[in-house]
Amino acid sequence: MNKNLWIIANWKSNKTIAEALDWVSYVGPRIGKKENRQVVVCPSFVDVHEVKKAIIVGNYPLLVGVQDLSPFDTGAHTGEEAARVLKDFVDLAILGHSERRENFGETPEIVAKKAEQAKLHDIIPLVCVQNSGTPIPEGVKLVAYEPIFAIGTGNPDTPENANSVADSLKQKLGNDMEVLYGGSVTSENLRSFLNEENISGALIGKASLDPEEFVKIVEVSL
Ligand code: PGA
Repeated sequence: MNKNLWIIANWKSNKTIAEALDWVSYVGPRIGKKENRQVVVCPSFVDVHEVKKAIIVGNYPLLVGVQDLSPFDTGAHTGEEAARVLKDFVDLAILGHSERRENFGETPEIVAKKAEQAKLHDIIPLVCVQNSGTPIPEGVKLVAYEPIFAIGTGNPDTPENANSVADSLKQKLGNDMEVLYGGSVTSENLRSFLNEENISGALIGKASLDPEEFVKIVEVSL
């Protein structure tokens, strides 16, 4: 398979620092490096620095991402995590996850500002969409199709439907767009999604928390 593949762990609001470091020391040495495949772990903000350090020390083939970032640059924005600060540790930011759109009122305009900040500071914006109609900010080349019914429910979309949504997104936004699938992905069903022509990887929530299961997930993408 020649396409680029992304396997991205979205830990959401989980893992103490001890649990995070246990995960890295289990997963890191067990996943092989493979050309054209990026494995990314997205911890909570407070875990990011130590997780990054552990990956560097172990020389593991893992990138670090965040699950959100500030729509503003550094400055008087209490409580915000600015892209310029995060850049020292992370390569990617998940933006516009449906949990943020629903629970924190994130609008397409806010997501666009965040994507702008990410790009300005060389962080890859990964924008989550619920269907092919969700607006995608200009210049974003990495998108995750995550239908609400599939998130955390054990009820994934069909690979065929995910492929056809990915196809519509590419037709709308250009063929250089990479589209991931997310929603109840496990080591059991990942292959069926990766086999689809327009799916370039997966964004994995619940199943990524268990280090043994995550190693299996990465093995499936070999
Ligand atoms: P899930 O979450 O794998 O637990 O369904 C995916 C996501 O929300 O990114």
